[in-house]
Amino acid sequence: MAGGDAQVTENKYSILLPTYNERENLPIIIWLLITYMDNSGYNFEIIIIDDGSPDGTLEAARQLQDIYGEEKIVLRPREKKLGLGTAYIHGMKHATGNFIVIMDADLSHHPKFIPEFIKKQEECNYDVVSGSRYVGSGGVYGWDFKRKLVSRGANFLTQLLLRPGASDLTGSFRLYKKSVLEKLVESCVSKGYVFQMEMIIRARQFDFTIGEVPITFVDRVYGESKLGGSEIFQFAKALLYLFATT
Ligand code: GDD
Ligand code: MN
Repeated sequence: MAGGDAQVTENKYSILLPTYNERENLPIIIWLLITYMDNSGYNFEIIIIDDGSPDGTLEAARQLQDIYGEEKIVLRPREKKLGLGTAYIHGMKHATGNFIVIMDADLSHHPKFIPEFIKKQEECNYDVVSGSRYVGSGGVYGWDFKRKLVSRGANFLTQLLLRPGASDLTGSFRLYKKSVLEKLVESCVSKGYVFQMEMIIRARQFDFTIGEVPITFVDRVYGESKLGGSEIFQFAKALLYLFATT
C-alpha cells in the first residue's frame, strides 16, 4: 500500500449466480465476469447456486471450476428447484466477501456494469447500489409488449403505493454490503421473484442508502424465462401486503 493511507481490509465481492437450466449461458457469463473483474483489479469470487437443473448446468459449472479454480468459482448446488429468493439466501450464507453482487446468469445482466456499481458504491459509501433500467441511459431490449407492460406496470404500481426511492424495483442486478443484505433478507417475508421488490422497500424502511446505475437489460438468447402468470399474481399479492404493513 502506497504512502501512508493504510487500507487495512481489502474489499471482496461475492457474485451470486443462481442457475436453472443455464448450461449454454454459463461459460459465457463466467468468462465475461472474470474478464471484467480481473481487468478492474477487484478481489472476487463467483458462487453458482444450481437447483438440480436437468440440462446439466452443474456439470458445466464443474468444468468451469476446473478451468478457473476453486478460489474464483464456488459451487453451492441444491437438490431441486427451490426458487430464486431462497437461492440468493443460500448463496449469501456461503459468501466470503464483504460485498455481494446479485445477478442473473442468462446474459441479461452484463458483467461490464459491475465495476460501475463498485465505483458508485465507493462514491458515497452506499449500502445498496441498484442497476436501473428506468434511469438515464438504462433500458430493456428484446422484450415483447406484454413483458414490458408487466414490468412497467409492476414498477408504476409499486412507486405509487410504496414510494420506495428507487426507480427499478423489480430488477435484480444489485450490489449490497453483506451486512445490509443479511439484515434485509432477515426482514423479508416473500420468496420467489417478488423478493427483489420487497428488498428495496425494506431498504428504504431501514434508511439504507441506495445508489443507482443505469443498466441495459437484454432478453436471454438461450433457454427460457421462468417467470409466469403465477409470479405476476404473487407480485400483486406481496405488493398489497407491503402496502398494508409498511
Ligand atoms: N437456483 C435457481 N433456482 N435459479 C433460478 C431459479 C430457481 O428456482 N429460477 C430462476 N433462476 C435463475 C435463472 O437461471 C437466471 O439465472 C435467473 O435466476 C433469472 O431467471 P429468469 O427466468 O431468466 O428470469 P427473467 O428473465 O424472467 O426475470 C428477470 O427479470 C425480472 C424482471 O426484471 C429476473 O432478473 C427477475 O429477478 C426480475 O424480477
Ligand atoms: Mn432472464
